[in-house]
Amino acid sequence: MIGALPTAASLYERVRRVIPPIEWPAFVDDIDAILALKRERNAVILAHNYQTPEIFHCVADIVGDSLALARKAMSVEADVIVLAGVHFMAETAKLLNPDKTVLIPDLGAGCSLADSITAEDVRLMRQRYPGAPVATYVNTSAAVKAESDICCTSGNALAVVKSLGAPRVIMLPDEYLAKNIAAQTKVEIVTWNGHCEVHERFTAADIRELREAHPGVTVLAHPECPPEVVAVSDFAGSTAAMSEYVARNKPARVVLMTECSMSDNVAVEHPDVDFVRPCNLCPHMKRITLANIRTALEENRHIVTIDPRVAERARRAVERMLFV
Ligand code: 13P
Ligand code: SF4
Repeated sequence: MIGALPTAASLYERVRRVIPPIEWPAFVDDIDAILALKRERNAVILAHNYQTPEIFHCVADIVGDSLALARKAMSVEADVIVLAGVHFMAETAKLLNPDKTVLIPDLGAGCSLADSITAEDVRLMRQRYPGAPVATYVNTSAAVKAESDICCTSGNALAVVKSLGAPRVIMLPDEYLAKNIAAQTKVEIVTWNGHCEVHERFTAADIRELREAHPGVTVLAHPECPPEVVAVSDFAGSTAAMSEYVARNKPARVVLMTECSMSDNVAVEHPDVDFVRPCNLCPHMKRITLANIRTALEENRHIVTIDPRVAERARRAVERMLFV
């Protein structure tokens, strides 16, 4: 027998620790409409770990870090994919699903890293460092990926660099991720000066103050944070790796040096862990709402398209990463 389909009312139990009862009624209508639209359109929603809990826990079918979303996008069987995340994630899903409709609810959901570099910049870096392979963070446009040998995410960057077997690797565009990886390998890493506008704002002084205010707190940092922040943290890893760290180690008190919704989403799964919450909002991730996910499904927008000549080369770089 097929179990009862979820409704907004039955989902509240899941998120009650992070969504106050007074806020919940504002979400109910959109959640019920989205659940119905997904069935009507044979659609799935892929949501990044930085999406708000009413999206992440109530309407998403597949959740995770950039690497997990790319991997899971490969085996989606639906006709329509709605990407609750930022534009480069939607492009990656499209690269891996050229025949499916991929929708992004707000075209303005960009990324400061993706905006920091162009395809022409990558060609110039190749000229400056002849023979060095280019490993490009997935937080880039398809046009930039197309100029790259391989992609990486914060979850596999070290493995990707090692897989190239080269003495020198050009790692674009996140300077801090590249420096954090350089600290773990003998491979010479050539960097670019792109930064995540969310993670670059954390400082080592923030962590010292947190440790004073919350003795014994475990500090987890995303590798897009500056190296001096990572150096004074207890652990650095992708959003999925941070989540796994909490599940495995069950720290009594933890702070995640990353985007704000991450703590809410992980807290739902771990009622016994105390989350200290200084965090920074990503204005791009926050452009995605239940209301515009609903409109995306109702009006079939915004359809993600990629120039086929760019797509073929960009897909190669993404697929190569997925087999590392
Ligand atoms: P993850 O791949 O760790 O989820 O990071 C993506 C991102 O945009 C972090 O700012
Ligand atoms: Fe880009 Fe930073 Fe936002 Fe992630 S958190 S999408 S890297 S701006």
